Amino acid sequence: MANNMKYFIGNWKMFGVSKSISILSKINKFVKSDKKFNKKYRTVITPPNTLIESYAKFFLNQKISIGAQNCYHKDNYGANTGSVSALMIKNVGAQYMIVGHSDNRTEGDTDAMLKSKVENSLNNKLKVILCVGENKIDKKKNRTFKVLKKQIVNVLEKKFNYKDVIIAYEPIWSIGTGKIPEPKDLLKTTIFIKKILKNIFKTSNSPAVLYGGSVDGTNISQFKRINEIDGFLIGGASKSDKKFIDIIKNYYK
Ligand code: PGA
Repeated sequence: MANNMKYFIGNWKMFGVSKSISILSKINKFVKSDKKFNKKYRTVITPPNTLIESYAKFFLNQKISIGAQNCYHKDNYGANTGSVSALMIKNVGAQYMIVGHSDNRTEGDTDAMLKSKVENSLNNKLKVILCVGENKIDKKKNRTFKVLKKQIVNVLEKKFNYKDVIIAYEPIWSIGTGKIPEPKDLLKTTIFIKKILKNIFKTSNSPAVLYGGSVDGTNISQFKRINEIDGFLIGGASKSDKKFIDIIKNYYK
């Protein structure tokens, strides 16, 4: 994973039915039309599991890659009603896997489970997007760095291929709230995260570190000066082709 690659990753959460593919078609058309964009950027959408197979087939060899939002933490197959494994998700054409989104941490994902999800995903040749982020109280009590460090070192290990790992820094207080960090804080935090990652993987190149939380076509201009950020994980705004394209356009224009 080249270090200067920028990612625009749309997390649809529990949104989308078959016909929502028209949103992706418009984004794909836009991305395809722009040679400059193509060279330096990657566009990924993580629809619900029900849509992965059809979307991945449709966009095979196109400019949009498909990922999943979560997977079961153990095994490829098992007696786990309602669960889907990393192997199954890879089998239907996904290339990326989000792990540790705060929605899932809230529902009980522990660091040990997340480590296992990362490992299973990497073993199944999926690129992992590991989400980390402090909550409002952590921020208020100046515990952000401590929390982030714990979330990262408890899950990642040197034996994982760092080229297949992406970190999405998503402060919980900014997800879906319209609030974003101060650019100087975000810069500091991104550098801090990269330092931890270089330490774990013993590399001079850090895996990509993205920002996520209330990114939109307007506030994106505040992020573009922070070159250390390697892209964005976009929730709400990724459900609209216009909003998603606006983010991309306003980022690099
Ligand atoms: P948001 O969501 O862009 O709607 O804040 C981000 C996320 O939850 O990944």
